[in-house]
Amino acid sequence: MTDWFEIGAMTDIPRLGSRVVRTALGDIAVFRTATDKVFALTDKCPHKGGPLSQGIVYGERVACPLHNWVIQLDTGEAVAPDKGCAHRYPVKVEDGKVFLKLRGTVVNIADYAAAAQA
Ligand code: FES
Repeated sequence: MTDWFEIGAMTDIPRLGSRVVRTALGDIAVFRTATDKVFALTDKCPHKGGPLSQGIVYGERVACPLHNWVIQLDTGEAVAPDKGCAHRYPVKVEDGKVFLKLRGTVVNIADYAAAAQA
């Protein structure tokens, strides 16, 4: 079963930045672009598992902080010539609040709000 989980306010995510949502499924990086589009990917680069949440966001892409692979935020696909895909999660914004669609039976969300305060 999948459900939409409210994880916090969009304004908690810095523009051209991200927040990490810790779940029982693993860490999920939630990105916000300069134009306030929001995307969610597993926080693991398809190359060698680098933390995409610490990468540089530009346009609708993020550059991995470890070896600079570029990942397309809407698909999770690495930009050629690199090959690989970070798992993408459905995400939506309603009334300024961010919702992630996750498997409800295993999810256990923490830390988004705490990170936003840091
Ligand atoms: S781990 Fe991301 S580019 Fe190598």
